[in-house]
Amino acid sequence: MTYPRELIDPIIIKNKAFDLEGFVFGNGDFSPDIMLIGEAPGEVEIRTGIPFTGRSGKELNKTLAIAGLTRNQVYITSIVRSRPFGKKTMIDKAGQKIEKRPNRMPKKQEILLHAPLLDYEIAQVQPKLIIALGGCALKRLIDNKMTISESHGNIWHGKIKQLGADSNYVPSKRAYDIFPTFHPAAIFYNRKIEQNLIADWEKLKEILIVKAL
Ligand code: URA
Repeated sequence: MTYPRELIDPIIIKNKAFDLEGFVFGNGDFSPDIMLIGEAPGEVEIRTGIPFTGRSGKELNKTLAIAGLTRNQVYITSIVRSRPFGKKTMIDKAGQKIEKRPNRMPKKQEILLHAPLLDYEIAQVQPKLIIALGGCALKRLIDNKMTISESHGNIWHGKIKQLGADSNYVPSKRAYDIFPTFHPAAIFYNRKIEQNLIADWEKLKEILIVKAL
């Protein structure tokens, strides 16, 4: 997908006001039926320039296969396109101070800054089904009050959040089908959800058959 420069350039400039680095474009088929929306790229993705190519990407590929999908059949993007990093000062073995920049969740203002990009991609792709990977994507698309633990594995249908003229979110013109599930990296922190995650993608396989996608 090509993005208008006038859309990207101001965002890349404003990134400098935040702890955000790099820029990863969405990836995949130009007019796929299915769009996957994650949280934000990590260290590997800002190097490869392709979403989900690091550790969580390996997990994502496994789950796509459960639903009978390959990356070629979907469009993959995220709510923030640059890597949000934290700052941690540590002391190495030689007693030297070193600064670490671990991945972190995107903040509200960062999600707002990148909102026009996601809105643009959704408008271009016009997906028949959106898979929201994790709570951040779910809250950005539907409602801050929603949680993955309560809504995963079931289709939600309705108007989604888009950025309005006064930097507030407004409902989209058309309604979308959203399938919320866990972010692929969630199992690294909580192995207990693995069975639920697999069950979601098995259910998705059935949904895709019914919807003929
Ligand atoms: N998490 C995301 O949401 N996107 C990536 O590209 C990698 C990890």
